[in-house]
Amino acid sequence: MARPRVTVTRRLPAEIEARLGRDYAALLNSDDQGFTRDDWGTRCRDADAVLCTPVDGMDAEIIAALPASVRIIASYSVGYNHIDVAAAAARGIVVTNTPGVLTDATADLALLLLLGAARRASEGEALMRQGAWSGWLPTQLLGIQVSGKSLGIVGLGRIGAAVARRAAAFGMRLHYLSPRTKVLPGIDLQQHVDEASFWPACEFLSLHLPLTPATRGFLDARRIAQLPRGAVVVNTARGDVVDDDALIAALRSGQVAAAGLDVFTGEPNFRREYAALPNTFLLPHLGSATLETRTAMGARAIDNLDAFFAGREPPDRVTAGTS
Ligand code: DGY
Repeated sequence: MARPRVTVTRRLPAEIEARLGRDYAALLNSDDQGFTRDDWGTRCRDADAVLCTPVDGMDAEIIAALPASVRIIASYSVGYNHIDVAAAAARGIVVTNTPGVLTDATADLALLLLLGAARRASEGEALMRQGAWSGWLPTQLLGIQVSGKSLGIVGLGRIGAAVARRAAAFGMRLHYLSPRTKVLPGIDLQQHVDEASFWPACEFLSLHLPLTPATRGFLDARRIAQLPRGAVVVNTARGDVVDDDALIAALRSGQVAAAGLDVFTGEPNFRREYAALPNTFLLPHLGSATLETRTAMGARAIDNLDAFFAGREPPDRVTAGTS
């Protein structure tokens, strides 16, 4: 039987490209540039499957342009806000993601952002790189102590829970906002059903919400105003869950003392004010960027393709309206 044809939108770790090349008629994309809007129909000609990444926006127009041969879109990501899942479903195209395998890498990076923002790592590193460090001083670059502080988590799913476990090891007190009670064995968690009690409890805040119409702009001026003055905000979820105007204003006023951000609205573009502010610690969407994790994400995406083409239910099928 002919091997299924898979169009791949970006360069992937070597082990993953080798597996694709072995098991599929894979059209790999070595230039790493992704497709233009007009490219999709041609690049996917005769394809049975598309393996895309979170930076390949597949809106309704692009999905409509896919040839009828495409039956599955396997996203190399846990988030799938870049795919119009309803439009895919309307054409009978299955969509899958890669949950679970990037939990630890992303949680590690959330802690890096939390620590980097609180301890003024960007400013310290800039001194070193500029050759401007004149020596240890009792009052130089004093940051915010992490241990003993409270951390509020919005979105206590896999990644949020992994952040909670790490933060507990740093001596933080943990709060989460959810109508549903969660239990993490050995971890002391304070649940907040109401926002009114949650925001004032967050000396640190870490966002782990999926991007949906309901969560767009979630961290807005009204919510930021309820944080304790001088809070630290961390975002490894999606840039769009933050209202940038509100966060930038709060970073300027001191309502938010520092922010650690790995994700931005309109990536790779982002509000340049963040880069001009001294109290931000910024990374270019590196949450899952370890070789081990990116390889595991690729393996998971292919596991979904394997199941689909073997006539089984893909383990990570997503549907519109879920996240
Ligand atoms: C994802 O998988 O959604 C991440 O954002 C990639 O790092």
